[in-house]
Amino acid sequence: MLMSKLSRVGLLLFKELSRGKSRAITGAGYTQTPFSQYLQTLQSETKVSKGAIFQKYHHFSSAATKDSSEEGSEEKQTISVTFVDKDGEEKHIKVPIGNSMLEAAHENDIELEGACEGSLACSTCHVIVMDVEYYNKLEDPTDEENDMLDLAFGLTETSRLGCQVIATPELDGVRLAIPAHTRNFAVDGYVPKPH
Ligand code: FES
Repeated sequence: MLMSKLSRVGLLLFKELSRGKSRAITGAGYTQTPFSQYLQTLQSETKVSKGAIFQKYHHFSSAATKDSSEEGSEEKQTISVTFVDKDGEEKHIKVPIGNSMLEAAHENDIELEGACEGSLACSTCHVIVMDVEYYNKLEDPTDEENDMLDLAFGLTETSRLGCQVIATPELDGVRLAIPAHTRNFAVDGYVPKPH
C-alpha cells in the first residue's frame, strides 16, 4: 500500500518534472528564439519596405515640387502697368512680379532715367503714382528713398522712386506718371548736403 502510494507520488513528481522541463526548455527559448528572430526579421523587413516606400514617395513628391516650380518659373506672373509720359501719352505694359518699375520701363523703351541704376543715389527715376489707392498699397519708403525723394523735381504726395517700386499682384492696374523734369545731380551740379 505504502509502496503503491510512493510509486504514484513518484509518477506524479516525474510527470511534473517532465512538464516543468519542457516548459523550461521552451522558456529557454528553443521555440522562442526562432520566433523572436522571425519577429526581428519581419520588423526589419517592414522597416526596409516602409523606408523604400517613403523614399519612393519622397522622390515622387520632391519631383512633383520641382516640376511645379519649374512650370511656375516658365510662366512668370505679370501685372498690367500704365506709364504716362510728360505729354500725357500712355503706354501699357506687362511687368513680371518682382521686377522694379525702373527695370520695366527700360525693358519697354520708356523714358525713365535711373541714373544710379537703382542704388538710391539719385532721384531721376521719380514717378508719381496717379491713384492714391495704389499708392497706399506700396510698402512705405525707406529713409534713404525719402532722402532722395526730397531732392526730386516736382515732388508730390504720391511720389516714389521707380527703382524702389516692385511689382506685386496688388499693383495690377497701377498708373505711373513720369514728371516733366528730373534733377540729375551730375548734370545740374547739385551736391546733396549730409544730414
Ligand atoms: Fe537712382 Fe532710382 S535710379 S534712385
